[in-house]
Amino acid sequence: MNKKRMLFASSEVYPFVKTGGLADVSHSLPRALNESYAVSVVLPLYSSIDRKQFKIKPIESFEIAMGGSLYAVEVYGTIYENVAYRFIYAPLLCDREFLYGPPECGYEDNALRFGLFSYAIAELLRREKYAIAHLNDWQCALAALLIKEDSTLETKCVYTIHNLAYQGVFPPSLLPQIGINESYFTMDALEFYNQVNFMKAGIAYADAVTTVSPTYAKEILTPEFGCGLEGFLHVHRRKLSGIINGIDPDHFSPSCDEALVEKYTNAKGKKSSKSDLLKQLGLKGSSKPLFAFIGRFTHQKGIDILVESLPKIAQMECNVVLLGEGEEGYRDALASLSEGYGNLHLSFGYDEVISHRMYAAADFLLMPSLFEPCGLNQMIAYAYGAVPIVNKVGGLADTVKKVESYDENTPFGYGVVFTSPTSRSLVAAVKKSCELYSDKKHFEAVVNHNMKCDFSWSESAKAYEGIYARLSK
Ligand code: GLC
Repeated sequence: MNKKRMLFASSEVYPFVKTGGLADVSHSLPRALNESYAVSVVLPLYSSIDRKQFKIKPIESFEIAMGGSLYAVEVYGTIYENVAYRFIYAPLLCDREFLYGPPECGYEDNALRFGLFSYAIAELLRREKYAIAHLNDWQCALAALLIKEDSTLETKCVYTIHNLAYQGVFPPSLLPQIGINESYFTMDALEFYNQVNFMKAGIAYADAVTTVSPTYAKEILTPEFGCGLEGFLHVHRRKLSGIINGIDPDHFSPSCDEALVEKYTNAKGKKSSKSDLLKQLGLKGSSKPLFAFIGRFTHQKGIDILVESLPKIAQMECNVVLLGEGEEGYRDALASLSEGYGNLHLSFGYDEVISHRMYAAADFLLMPSLFEPCGLNQMIAYAYGAVPIVNKVGGLADTVKKVESYDENTPFGYGVVFTSPTSRSLVAAVKKSCELYSDKKHFEAVVNHNMKCDFSWSESAKAYEGIYARLSK
């Protein structure tokens, strides 16, 4: 039987380009869906993407009329791990140092850049005839409106919110430049506190809206987590659901990970990874628990809490390693802390290989996120045998059960869970973790259990397929 065609659109996809978890999901979910659908993934061909390495070749070119201007667009393609990729090249969209802008702010013309990306997605749908378009985050959201507007397109549209904190909000003077009629500048369409909101286009015009965990799907209907869109989401709640992300077991498996100094399959096997990392970073004490933070240095990830807590944590018998990049203020605060304490080390800059080595070395992974749509790091931590320490929000609430309720006969992952995002709770959780660590037998049992849990896409990919099937029958 011929598989139906599906276009999965994202502004970043690992391994071509990555700033966050969206890139991992945009790599691993299409791989999982490719069994049942003929999937193509479309993303911008940013100048940082290595065309040679990935054998990216030109396919076709066309012009796009947007807001009275003509833009030349080139489509490139490659096949990677059996999935077809389409890359959109236009100088306006692609020739930049950063994807979206320097860490503190977005580029001023992002509305035009990702407006153009959305027009290119709609044009691909016309040319290549897809049954389903799966759009992700604000950067592709306008495509939902363009699809609805074009009566010749029968494509059904799923829109996934990976993070409500980034909505793509721009001044209304931009509307003519992105070719969107003023009639859409209303509360039930794109208008948002007198600004234009791209994400609203995805929510309003997609046939189904999903977010990346069941708990976050509920949270975003409340003022605390709704980022001003809770009312609007409430109006569209019947088409909203939460599907938990998965991770790719081929990519995150210590038993076959070439980045590691020694591959392993259980808690005991982590030993050389830990001693090697400590040695490399100039830290001492293999027998002390090793805590890691890996992620973006942004408000969302609880860096304020971390900065406040680290002086207290550093006084405990432990080592702490931090890896990531992000806002300068956070980087400076973390850097000066790591200079002040001999058992604290900061590696600035994101590096996939170092991150894998850190998961392998760490006994615990710190995730004090204030909000977390899903979070992938806690699942990666399970796979590598690091016990996650999490604030109970969003996807963390769905994927981390508290270790006090540990039961080896369940399929759940266990970690140290706290329920209010404060420095006090985090410090108490770290203290509890040190105690857990000192009960070697129990600790190893939890680690070994977590390592065996299934956090692959198998179930969640089926849930997406269920939505596609419902829409296209
Ligand atoms: C965003 C969210 C994160 C989620 C990821 C992939 O980065 O902040 O929680 O896991 O998207 O969906």
